[in-house]
Amino acid sequence: MMLPNWEQYFCNFVVTMKSIVLQTMILNPKLLAFLLAIFIAIFTTTFLWFLPETNANILFVSFVASLAIAGLLIYFVLDYLVFQEINKMYDSINRLKMKDFGVTRKKLQKDNNPLRKLNNELFVYVSKKEQEVTELKRLEKYRREFLANVSHELKTPIFAAQGFVHTLLDGAMDDEDVRERFLQKAAKSLDGLDILVKDLLTLSQMETGDIKMNPERIDIKQITKEVFEQLENKALSKNVKMFVKAPQSAIFVRADAQRIGQVMTNLVENAIKYGHENGTIWVVFEEDKKDFKISIRDDGPGIASEHLNRIFERFYRVNKARSRTGGSSGLGLAIVKHILQAHRTKISVVSKLEKGTTFSFKLEKSLNNE
Ligand SMILES: Nc1ncnc2c1ncn2[C@@H]1O[C@H](COP(=O)(O)OP(=O)(O)O)[C@@H](O)[C@H]1O
Ligand SMILES: [Mg+2]
Repeated sequence: MMLPNWEQYFCNFVVTMKSIVLQTMILNPKLLAFLLAIFIAIFTTTFLWFLPETNANILFVSFVASLAIAGLLIYFVLDYLVFQEINKMYDSINRLKMKDFGVTRKKLQKDNNPLRKLNNELFVYVSKKEQEVTELKRLEKYRREFLANVSHELKTPIFAAQGFVHTLLDGAMDDEDVRERFLQKAAKSLDGLDILVKDLLTLSQMETGDIKMNPERIDIKQITKEVFEQLENKALSKNVKMFVKAPQSAIFVRADAQRIGQVMTNLVENAIKYGHENGTIWVVFEEDKKDFKISIRDDGPGIASEHLNRIFERFYRVNKARSRTGGSSGLGLAIVKHILQAHRTKISVVSKLEKGTTFSFKLEKSLNNE
């Protein structure tokens, strides 16, 4: 059924006005305020027009006045109370997208504006949730990778030892020469497995807090000497010379003797293992105001910069093939980092290809009677 003409016009008018209003709302508050003010002005003027004493001047003045006042008021309300706050909400959403979570609860409580308060509350809540989700995702990824790495690392020595033993059982045992060689290889693989499991155990105990650091007054120069003695054979087999560069007196620091011994062993052992044959290693002690700086320096092949910040990760090795055969777990530096963190200090490394590598860390001085 066709609508009569005036009804069609009216419908068209309403649809057009609706789309204009919607568009202006999206575009800016000024236009919207102006449109609403015109409506109010027309309405007021029409109302006045019906009164008997009105004339053109009064109608004009009332139109202009209501247009101006309504326009200004609506603009103020829209712009200051709604649009600006909505823009801030967009800002918040953008910040969330960019993972910029810098809002504190203090800042939030000061505001009187309810919209702003709501915005801030929402922002803090959502950003906290976002942070939690990010952290959970990171942990989940870490757990998956760790499990994969552990299985892989365990598999390598077990398979090797298994291979040698089975070959022996399958008949190679009868040849005396082969028997000796294969048994030695199997033993080496199992030794590697032993190192790996011990290192894993140490790391896991440190993480679960089973191993407590026991800080006491220790002479780190003495500990270094013991480490040198312990690694003397390894150094001799590569003809590596080891030196200590330190003040004459004993060097007392506050630390866990056994754990710091482990740190020194891991670092000096690495320097021997990854250094050149006939190389030199220095352990240098430098005194600061509050602490001693301990550096372990070698003149080996160095570590390329792309590996440098990854060597402290578990199982990370620069030369995977070479180090795996050498009975290393890839956990040595991860353990070092952990122990030093527990001493509230951190390890740093400087390395230059073909020049050498220096690992260093600080330990708190122990005063006389501590
Ligand atoms: N002094 C060093 N010179 C050169 N490379 C080193 C040195 N110390 C460590 N690295 C590299 O860092 C890697 C990680 O060391 P580490 O965690 O002790 O594992 P691992 O010794 O069991 O392989 C080593 O595989 C080696 O490639
Ligand atoms: Mg090592």
